[in-house]
Amino acid sequence: MKAVGLYKSLAITDAASLINLELPKPELNSENDLLVKVEAIAVNPVDYKVRLSILPEASATPKLLGWDVSGIVIASANPSFKAGDKVFYAGDITRPGANSEYHLVDSRIVGHMPDNLSFVQAASLPLTSLTAWESLFERLQVEKDKEKTLLIINGAGGVGSITTQLAKHLTKLKVIVTASRPESIEWCRKQGADYIINHREDIVSQVRNLGYEFVDYILVYSNISDHIKACGELIVPFGKICSIVETKTGELDITPLKTKSAALLQEFMFTRAMYKTSDMIEQQNILNNISKLVQKQIITPTVNEILTPINAENLRQAHEVLEKGQSIGKIVLTGF
Ligand SMILES: NC(=O)c1ccc[n+]([C@@H]2O[C@H](COP(=O)([O-])OP(=O)(O)OC[C@H]3O[C@@H](n4cnc5c(N)ncnc54)[C@H](OP(=O)(O)O)[C@@H]3O)[C@@H](O)[C@H]2O)c1
Repeated sequence: MKAVGLYKSLAITDAASLINLELPKPELNSENDLLVKVEAIAVNPVDYKVRLSILPEASATPKLLGWDVSGIVIASANPSFKAGDKVFYAGDITRPGANSEYHLVDSRIVGHMPDNLSFVQAASLPLTSLTAWESLFERLQVEKDKEKTLLIINGAGGVGSITTQLAKHLTKLKVIVTASRPESIEWCRKQGADYIINHREDIVSQVRNLGYEFVDYILVYSNISDHIKACGELIVPFGKICSIVETKTGELDITPLKTKSAALLQEFMFTRAMYKTSDMIEQQNILNNISKLVQKQIITPTVNEILTPINAENLRQAHEVLEKGQSIGKIVLTGF
């Protein structure tokens, strides 16, 4: 089968950083797995982060990236899926990624694709929706019926986009997001944000100018070390903050949260698959809920750019945009 991968972690400007490969088609060997024919994949910051760190020394076997997929089930060891089912999923970071024509995935983390979407549209949703849902409803445990305030730092990326939609459609939250360029501001407006402020300027005074002394919840979809002081000033006493981006060892000082007794939570979308948690199937339930929301046209896909085919050249182009931190919504690749 065709695939794209790497033998060594290299800068994206190096043509060998991602290369076209011909690999054996994988075969079912676990009672939970599905064999999926990959139709479209979305690219996420995790792809370039793994690419840059996973193989400091050259490896004899290639590493495959790609953790946002839509496709068709070819074979299933699990009776709840059958050949021909259209599915979407983020997958498991401890297993090979899906930048390949065929892919094995644990069925417990796979959802049925919304039938009103194309494969390209569907691929834009799984990883970011799972992150957004788990952040909002599991980590922050937002109270859906209360008119509280949510600040999202980084509103225009894939996660911020779908979080805004979920918060606006499923809760009574007032949603303040950050964006700094005309095109990212416009994109955030389309996702439904109530207010858009600029993360390159003083976040605290901008929130206060909107009439809020404190906010009830903060989702930090950027390095929290850069924003911890603002978080400490803006979070309501006993409020909750959730961070999804890794920090360097010793980089983060949470002293600004101390006097507020604020909770700092972590969200990692791969935790369930990585540790095979007893509630792993909850990711299937979340994806099926997302599917229903899309079918009812409550949630809309966040595709902003489509590249075809899925090959090394196009993946290098997508990684380059993401590495610059300028991506808006999702970049999706389709076809081999
Ligand atoms: N823990 C998890 O499970 C999980 C899951 C998904 C993603 N993540 C992480 O979350 C982060 C966001 O990912 P993503 O896919 O949503 O989007 P992304 O592609 O990283 O976001 C791009 C956006 O970031 C904004 N941005 C750049 N610098 C910023 C800053 N200093 N402060 C705030 N915003 C800034 C830019 O907005 P402007 O152009 O308007 O400046 C740009 O539109 C990544 O680091 C990713 O690895 C973690």
